[in-house]
Amino acid sequence: MDEMKFDARYWQSRYEAGNTPWDIGYPSPALIRYFEQLPDKSIRILIPGAGFGHEAAWLLENGFEQTYICEWASQAVAGFLVAYRSFPKDQILQGDFFRLEESFDLLVEQTFLSAIHPDQWYRYAQQCKTLLGQRGTLAGLLFAQPFDEPGPPFGGTPEQYMALFSPHFKRISLTPCVHSITPRQGRELFLEATNS
Ligand SMILES: C[S@@+](CC[C@H](N)C(=O)[O-])C[C@H]1O[C@@H](n2cnc3c(N)ncnc32)[C@H](O)[C@@H]1O
Repeated sequence: MDEMKFDARYWQSRYEAGNTPWDIGYPSPALIRYFEQLPDKSIRILIPGAGFGHEAAWLLENGFEQTYICEWASQAVAGFLVAYRSFPKDQILQGDFFRLEESFDLLVEQTFLSAIHPDQWYRYAQQCKTLLGQRGTLAGLLFAQPFDEPGPPFGGTPEQYMALFSPHFKRISLTPCVHSITPRQGRELFLEATNS
């Protein structure tokens, strides 16, 4: 399957079919631990490719009022709104991540990069840098190795990720994730990439 097939229609059809094995159904414990140590709750946070957005709801409920999601599958956004109806509508950016022009302090990664064909990963890194400007941070979870089966999901090696992000970020921390959910244990890395 070529990379252009993973468009909004493809993802919408996955949600319509209820075929969403990536959705863990609750906020990721590894991400909660990361959020809990953030010193400033006034930062602008974006979760791109948020799906059902459990982490966004957690962030809002825990005082991070400037939390946004970006998601292009309307069925996912509808599911998010059913579950988290009080989430501010103007903080739901329904559309293509690659067309966003806003600016953020923190981008949160969870199974969004793995939804993008690796031939297009350079666009993701570029767009993260554009949205974050000179001082922002990209943080979250990455699959630690390529998958045997054709994707999505697509995984990569630490070397691939370092090569991807190092042109855009001064400091990159990429470590084995110790708080992964059980099915992903030993298979995830925690990334924090920043210029500040
Ligand atoms: C594998 S799912 C992950 C969803 C969520 N992050 C999670 O962990 O449950 C990938 C999501 O990214 C969305 N997506 C893919 N490409 C996108 C794009 N260019 N702009 C916005 N959303 C996109 C899909 O619709 C899908 O909801």
